Amino acid sequence: MKILFVCLGNICRSPLAEAIFNHKIKVQKLDHFFESDSCGTGNYHLGGPADSRTTSIALKNKVDINHVVRQLSEDDLIDYDQIIAMDQSNYSNILRIASAKENRHKVRLMRDYDPQGKGDVPDPYYGTEKDFREVFEILDRSIDQFIAELKTKI
Ligand code: 4NP
Repeated sequence: MKILFVCLGNICRSPLAEAIFNHKIKVQKLDHFFESDSCGTGNYHLGGPADSRTTSIALKNKVDINHVVRQLSEDDLIDYDQIIAMDQSNYSNILRIASAKENRHKVRLMRDYDPQGKGDVPDPYYGTEKDFREVFEILDRSIDQFIAELKTKI
């Protein structure tokens, strides 16, 4: 099963989501069932690495990030089985390029899986280290729930 995490710039939230997801499925020995990637709806940072604050919060939590920024394409809507948007704006932008209606059901919001509440994974780009910590915590608990639901489908 192929999972794609999507945010705006593909340097803060979605590479972190991808890295946390990969870390958790490896620990749970589920990595042979899943393949994941991340991308952005925007094209500001194409070809670059993750934001250094993202790498830093990941490493503090023993999660490796090895990332090259790429932009979402219409083919992604065909290639991936589940597409996880970080916020409502990403969600709308993904649906806008999903011309084939049959692929729209694949798109979900990350915090639909947050046991502590729905909404957006807040964009930390103009924020502080504390904002990156908060994003990590939201992703950490949402991805636990996401994986629990995926396990029922394998
Ligand atoms: P991300 O954060 O979508 O979580 O990667 C952002 C990164 C860059 C920009 C905005 C948000 N930007 O405007 O360049």
